[in-house]
Amino acid sequence: MEKPDLQQEDPELYAILKKEETKQQEKITLIPSENFASKAIQEAVGSVFMNKYSEGYPGKRYYEGNYFIDELETLTIERVKQAFHLPNDWAVNVQALSGSAANLAVYLGLLEPGDTVMGMYLPDGGHLSHGWSYEPEEIQDPNNLVYTGGSRKVNITSRFWHVVQYKTNPNTQQFDYAEIEKIAQKHKPKLLITGGTAYPREIDYQKMSAIAKGVGAYYLADIAHEAGLVAAGVNQSPVGIADVVTLTTHKTLRCNRGAIILSKKECMKKIDRAIFPGLQGGPHNHSIAGIAVGLREAMTPAFRTYAEQIVQNARALAAALFTYDFHIISGGTDKHLVLIDLTNKQVFGKKYARALDYAGIIANMNTMPQETRSPADPSALRIGTPSVTTRGMKEKEMTTIAEWMNRVMDITQPWNALDFESFETHVRQSEKIQKIAEEVKTLCKIYPFDI
Ligand SMILES: Cc1ncc(COP(=O)(O)O)c(C=O)c1O
Repeated sequence: MEKPDLQQEDPELYAILKKEETKQQEKITLIPSENFASKAIQEAVGSVFMNKYSEGYPGKRYYEGNYFIDELETLTIERVKQAFHLPNDWAVNVQALSGSAANLAVYLGLLEPGDTVMGMYLPDGGHLSHGWSYEPEEIQDPNNLVYTGGSRKVNITSRFWHVVQYKTNPNTQQFDYAEIEKIAQKHKPKLLITGGTAYPREIDYQKMSAIAKGVGAYYLADIAHEAGLVAAGVNQSPVGIADVVTLTTHKTLRCNRGAIILSKKECMKKIDRAIFPGLQGGPHNHSIAGIAVGLREAMTPAFRTYAEQIVQNARALAAALFTYDFHIISGGTDKHLVLIDLTNKQVFGKKYARALDYAGIIANMNTMPQETRSPADPSALRIGTPSVTTRGMKEKEMTTIAEWMNRVMDITQPWNALDFESFETHVRQSEKIQKIAEEVKTLCKIYPFDI
């Protein structure tokens, strides 16, 4: 989109924007929660919809002049219903400002403060908004498959609700449904949650729903990461099985930033009130407009092909990395993300991610199942394929990316014992790393992200 006015009005901001744009073009993004929104989405987000206040819901607003905003929100809701094949007794809320806010609205709507919530242990791949808290310096017993939190209640959800977390099976690094059921039977949660930021496998929604029903809990399936794969039919859908589904719009669904809540109508009455007036004021109508455009894109055959390619690329990347002796958590992936255990390599997530960035590949450090290191300097690296797939890259390019990642590992291994600053200095000065960055740039030129 041309931005001559911005350049003239605010050259300082414009310069930062251009630097970010160039970086996004010239580097490979492997962060699984990021993607590139289309020009049409960008136009909708940058539109006059941002000027309007519209507290309330279609037909019931607290401000005048909302006839077109009502049309916008109603259209968006209809598209959500179509994209996710909503049953007739389900409803939609598109006003949550982000995934965390959507989850909080579910808690506020369906629970009383102090009720028990049960989600996935964060170091195994769960999310902060599923009730994270911890005890500094605490050493976890790897055989204990339940975590009841610590004194550092870093997320609002652990401050106001009692949280119990289940871990993945230490052998398979996947869900252990029998164990989850036992924990649920013992702790009797009011809300059972699945979903996470670094869990690469499909979840059996029917089994989790049965576990929740068995203890009288609501079941929330948070599909923030795989929403696009679910909409495309490439991953299983929890819609119609769980009681509530939350999702973010900016990851595999490839819209602008935002969130959507889907639930049975009887739950949604309470969740609507939790969003407004419980948590938020006016909805971000420009964001909702962008999401409407993205949902239309997500219902095309081209998007289904795209979603299939995301998974094929993730599998190809994991397989190629495996040939270089990278250990893949859970042995592979069913989705867009791959988690790499770097224990055998001895260059751990923080240093490796920084070295990759200098080589033109952006990823993020991550904890992993049976983590023994700190979240600030964890054992693993998390990578994903939504962005590279949007650029049009396929299996062949995944093999090249794996080869670059291996070269970065080989180059940096001799420096693994250095403190972080000295390690970074070596990386910054390395001609071999700069050469990889040049090669990455050349590939990126062939696959620009304009869509
Ligand atoms: C599973 C899950 N839930 C919720 C969120 C929160 O989304 P947001 O960053 O939009 O608040 C994320 C973000 O990564 C996530 O992975």
